[in-house]
Amino acid sequence: MSKFVVVLLVGFAFAKAIQAQTLKSPNGAFEMQFTLDSNGTPQYQLQLNGEPVIKKSSLGFELKNDEKSLKNDFSVVATDRSSFDETWQPVWGEESQIRNHYNEMAVTLKQAGTDRIMVIRFRLFDDGLGFRYEFPQQEFTYFVIKEELTQFAMTGDHTAYWIAGDYDTQEYDYTTSRLSQIGALHNSAISDNASQTPFSPTGVQTALMMKTDDGLYINIHEAALVDYSAMHLNLDEETMVFTSKLTPDVNGDMAYMQAPTTTPWRTIIASKNATDILASRMTYNLNEPLALEDTSWIKPTKYIGVWWEMITGKSSWSYTNDLPAIQLGKTDYSTLEPNDTHGATTAHVKDYIDFAAQHGFDAVLVEGWNQGWEDWFGHSKDYVFDFVTPYPDFDVKGIYEYAKSKDVKMIMHHETSGSTRNYERHLDTAFQFMKKYGYDAVKTGYVGNILPRGEHHYGQWTVNHYQHVLEKAAEYEIMINAHEAVRPTGIARTYPNLIGNESARGTEFQAFGGSKPNHTTILPFTRLIGGPMDYTPGIFEMDISKVNPDNDSHGNFTLANQLGLYVVMYSPLQMAADLPENYNRFLDAFQFIKEVPVDWEVSKYLEAEPGGYITIARKDKNSSSWFVGNSNGTTARTATVDFKFLEKGKKYKATIYADAKDAHYKNNPQAYKITTKNVTHKTKLDVFTAPGGGFGISVVEVE
Ligand code: NOJ
Ligand code: CA
Repeated sequence: MSKFVVVLLVGFAFAKAIQAQTLKSPNGAFEMQFTLDSNGTPQYQLQLNGEPVIKKSSLGFELKNDEKSLKNDFSVVATDRSSFDETWQPVWGEESQIRNHYNEMAVTLKQAGTDRIMVIRFRLFDDGLGFRYEFPQQEFTYFVIKEELTQFAMTGDHTAYWIAGDYDTQEYDYTTSRLSQIGALHNSAISDNASQTPFSPTGVQTALMMKTDDGLYINIHEAALVDYSAMHLNLDEETMVFTSKLTPDVNGDMAYMQAPTTTPWRTIIASKNATDILASRMTYNLNEPLALEDTSWIKPTKYIGVWWEMITGKSSWSYTNDLPAIQLGKTDYSTLEPNDTHGATTAHVKDYIDFAAQHGFDAVLVEGWNQGWEDWFGHSKDYVFDFVTPYPDFDVKGIYEYAKSKDVKMIMHHETSGSTRNYERHLDTAFQFMKKYGYDAVKTGYVGNILPRGEHHYGQWTVNHYQHVLEKAAEYEIMINAHEAVRPTGIARTYPNLIGNESARGTEFQAFGGSKPNHTTILPFTRLIGGPMDYTPGIFEMDISKVNPDNDSHGNFTLANQLGLYVVMYSPLQMAADLPENYNRFLDAFQFIKEVPVDWEVSKYLEAEPGGYITIARKDKNSSSWFVGNSNGTTARTATVDFKFLEKGKKYKATIYADAKDAHYKNNPQAYKITTKNVTHKTKLDVFTAPGGGFGISVVEVE
C-alpha cells in the first residue's frame, strides 16, 4: 500500500492580481512565479537555485471561429496550494519504488466579459515543473483550439539536441546545435520517411533536451497526453522563445474540447547534473495512477524474432511476387506461386522457437505471417489487413502448439499501415484470435499516412485511437508495443500493458543507411523521458551486406556497444534483434544478452553527457546481481566505474564485455574482449570505450 499525505494549506481570493504568486519545490531549490500582465495575460517563470531556467512566458489559447481568445482579460479568483508525497510501486520499471513529491498551486482565472473559468495548475517537484490548463464544469463547455500559446522563454542561445518538428514521424537522426542554428540546419535534419509532415523551419519535437553555457540541463516535454494532440515547439530565433505547436486535424484544428476537461501537463525538468534528467520520474508522476485491478498478466519480456531478415532485405514479409496488388478476401493465395524469400514459414519459425528455448528467451515475434503484405502501404488503402488470416505456409495452430511445448510465447504483429479505421474495424476479432492461439503481446505498426485521410500520426483523433487500442487490449489482458505511434508521455503508469513504443529512429535505420554513432547517447535524454522504447538492439553483424548482398548499409556501433544498450536503453521489452546464426558466431558475447534482466529494483546513473556518453548501473529486481551498461559517442574515452553502489561486505564477480583497444564503429566493430574481476563496493574500474562503442558488465554475488 502506498502512503500519501495531502495538505490543503491555503485558499484565498484576489479581486485582481497585484503581485506575483510564488511556489517552491519541496527542497526549495526550484522556485516559480505566476503573474498576470497589464492585459490580464497569465505568465509564469522558473528558477533553480536563484538562476533563471525559464524567463517570463505567456500562457493561453487562440480559439476557432474568431471566438474571443483565452489569452487575456483574466483576473485571479482563487489560488489553492497543497503538498503531496507518496511512494508508489510501478508494475515494471527502472526501480521498484517511485516517490511522487511536489508542492502545488492551482490558480483559478476568470475572463472579463465572458465569465469563462480557466484553472492553471502548477506542480513543482525537486526535479522540475509540470503545469496544465483545466476547464471545470461551466457554461463555457464546447470549444475548439486553434492554437495553444504556451511559451517557454529560454535564457540564451543554448545547445539543443533536436529533431525536426513533424506531425507524422520522429524517425530522424538528432542534430546538436545552438538554438540559433536550428533554422539554418533544419533542411539537412530531415530524411525520408513513409509519412512525414514537417511544419516550420524552426519547429522541433519534444522531449527536447538542451544545455546552457552555464552547464544547466533543461528538458521540455509533456505528460499524460490523452484526448488532445501532441505538442511540438516552434522557436522564435530573435527572442529565443519557444511556443507550443499542436498537431492539427484534417481541418487545421488543434483540439476539440468539452468541459470539464484538462490539457496534458507541460513539463520542464532541469538540473546541473545530466544524470538527474535520466533519473527523473516526473513524467510518470504527472500521470494518473494505475487503472488496472489485476496486472499479473503483464510480464517484462526478452524476445527474438523473424524480423531483422526482413528489415535487411534478406527475406520478405510477402508470400508471393505474382501479384502487384491484393484485395483481401478476393485474392485466393492458394493459386499463387510462393516466392522463395518469405520469412514467416512454419519450419523457419520453429527454428526460431528452438533457438529461443535453447537460450532462455521468453518470446518470438513473427512478422509477415498474415495475408496482405504484397501491397501494404503507400496507396492510402483502407481495407489492408484483417489480422486473422495467415499465409498458406504459416500454420498458426501448429506453431502455437510447438511454442507451447517449448515454453516459449509468440508475439503477434499487427501492421495497420496507418489505417486506424481498418484496425478498429477488426480489433475485437483480432484480439480474440490472439487469445485463442496463446499470444498475449502484440507489436502494432502505423507505417504510411493515417486513414481517415488528412489526419496525422500525432493529432487528437489518432492519439485517441492509440489509447483506445491500449485500453481495449487491457480488457483482453494483452500487452502493446506500438511502432510509429505518438511518442509516450508516461501513460504506462496508468496502463502498464503499454510495454513498448518505437516512436523514434530505431535500430532498423542501421539497415536503411545508418544512424549517427552517438544516437543512443541522446535517446535516453529525449525519447525515453516519456517511456521505454523497443529500440531492438543486439546487432552483432554491422556489415549488412553479409546478411543481404544487395544492402550496403553499415551499422554505426561496436558489438560491445550493443550489449551496453540493454542497460542504457531501459525497456521492459527487449529484443535480441540479430539473426541466430550471427549469435552463434559470438556465443561468449551473447551470454550477456541472455543474462541481462528486463526489470529492475534500483538504477544508478553513474555519468552522462547528451551526445557524449552514458553509464548506468541497475540492480536486478529478482536477484542480488547488478548490471552496468555504457553507450559511448564518437570519441574514444575511458569510463571509470565506481562500484560503490554494491552492498558493503559482499563480494562479487564482474564479467566485463568491452571494446578492444583497436575497436571502432566504422572499420573494426566486432573487436571486443571479455575479462573477469572480483569487485566490492570499494572497487573503481577503468573501462575503455571506442568511438561508437560501449560496454556491458554483469556483477554477480559470490561467497
Ligand atoms: C516499421 C517497424 O518499425 C518495423 O519494426 C516493422 O518491421 C515494419 N514497420 C513492418 O511492420
Ligand atoms: Ca519504424
